[in-house]
Amino acid sequence: MMDGAADLDGRVIEVQAEALACVDLGALEELRLRWLGKKGEITGLLKSLGALPAEERARRGAAINALRDSATAAWESRKGELERKAEDAALDAGWIDVTAPSGARPAGRLHPITLLLEEVIDHFTGLGFEVATGPEIEDEFHNFDALNIPKDHPARDVWDTFYTDRREIPRTHTSSVQIRAMQTRKPPIRVISPGRVFRNETIDATHHASFNQVEGLLVDRHVTIAHLKHTLETLVAKLMGRKVETRFRPAFYPFVEPGLDLDVQCVFCAGVGCSICKGSGWIELIPGGLVHPKVLDACGLDPDQWQGFAFGMGFDRMVMMRYGIDDIRRLYDGRLQLVRQF
Ligand code: PHE
Repeated sequence: MMDGAADLDGRVIEVQAEALACVDLGALEELRLRWLGKKGEITGLLKSLGALPAEERARRGAAINALRDSATAAWESRKGELERKAEDAALDAGWIDVTAPSGARPAGRLHPITLLLEEVIDHFTGLGFEVATGPEIEDEFHNFDALNIPKDHPARDVWDTFYTDRREIPRTHTSSVQIRAMQTRKPPIRVISPGRVFRNETIDATHHASFNQVEGLLVDRHVTIAHLKHTLETLVAKLMGRKVETRFRPAFYPFVEPGLDLDVQCVFCAGVGCSICKGSGWIELIPGGLVHPKVLDACGLDPDQWQGFAFGMGFDRMVMMRYGIDDIRRLYDGRLQLVRQF
């Protein structure tokens, strides 16, 4: 009769070699089931014990237990190794090569106000205008006095002015730059002046306390309303990308005489009447007029020799029409979404 345990020594070596040969945790689990599982080798060996004589059964039983312990130890130790390997591999996968070229990134876009402003500047510089700027915090002289809006005159109320503690004015319109342009240049003068203006307005879909205007000023000899009309009509056609119906209405601004408003036919309803044009079919777009003689005078220009036209468009409304943006707040809240492009 063979020694009841000799064959089992070979099996210890066998299970240890198999465990080492497992290259991943899946293979190791198969090994565990094959050797240590309920239907595995070792369970089979234990079951066969019953057929043995009692004395041999004890010896062989002890040897099978030793095999089971060796198999368990081999499995555990290989499991530890493979788990560490898996962790290392995960770390490797997450390793950042700081010298590698970066992948494609979503590109930012220019703000619609900037985009349209570039077009407007391009248009006017092509006509010989230059861009002039002025401070956003103005004094009363440039924002009001020189524009023929005397102190305590009710016209000042029109602009819902903010005042600082030192009675400085966050400018209510870019018309203040007209004054600065006439003070610092000699006619003929052709300037446009884009910039932010500030008014104490309740903010809603069509009003904001801070918005953009683009001012235009031309001073020369024999300037008439016809020049202004042509300038504004070509501007609007250019901005809208097509000819749109326009009309002029008389309007009052203290710094122009005569004053007018240019309306364009509503692009949202083609003049039929909708909520955006408040049923009128027209959108009030650009106020303007001929520079008031008193304004020329305040800037040291002789009104008998020089005339001028001026306009000051609310630029945000232009941008909204052009890009189909129906709420002015969208221009400033950083979650801009273009809806429609005309
Ligand atoms: N500054 C005026 C406003 O803000 C607009 C305007 C500018 C009107 C130039 C006439 C001439 O309302």
